[in-house]
Amino acid sequence: MLLSGISGCKSRGPAPPDAFLSSLAARDAGARLYAAHCAVCHGADGSGNGPRQNFMVPPPGNLTVRPWSRLRDAGRTYAVIRAGVSGTVMTGWPALSARQTWELVAYIESLDHGA
Ligand code: HEC
Repeated sequence: MLLSGISGCKSRGPAPPDAFLSSLAARDAGARLYAAHCAVCHGADGSGNGPRQNFMVPPPGNLTVRPWSRLRDAGRTYAVIRAGVSGTVMTGWPALSARQTWELVAYIESLDHGA
């Protein structure tokens, strides 16, 4: 089964098959998770202009430009979402399942607007 390899609970987890990251179903699920948990800071379109951006130092990253939107190593994006970015208000999201985290990675990769 496609997702059998990504259900482990390691901090990073094995990379999912490319077919998962490019799957429209995974992106749609990621988009819903993003709207619920991430858009308040990163903006509805991922550009970092969420309603709370003015209160943050540093501000939320723009997820629509490289390297974040299309890291060659999707596992790094996964790890950032799991663990957060120390020294910023970006906390980790360990409560999300591995599958949900990969769905967010799939969504973020789909936001790529170039360099
Ligand atoms: C409370 C505000 C807030 C929320 C909620 C939030 N983030 Fe962040 N995020 C940040 C900030 C601030 C940074 C650090 C930006 C930097 O270091 O340039 C960051 C960094 C990141 C980065 C690294 C990109 C970069 O430019 O540093 C990724 C990927 C990311 N967030 C994804 C997510 C995802 C996915 C969610 C939802 C599960 C989420 N974030 C929720 C504020 C937030």
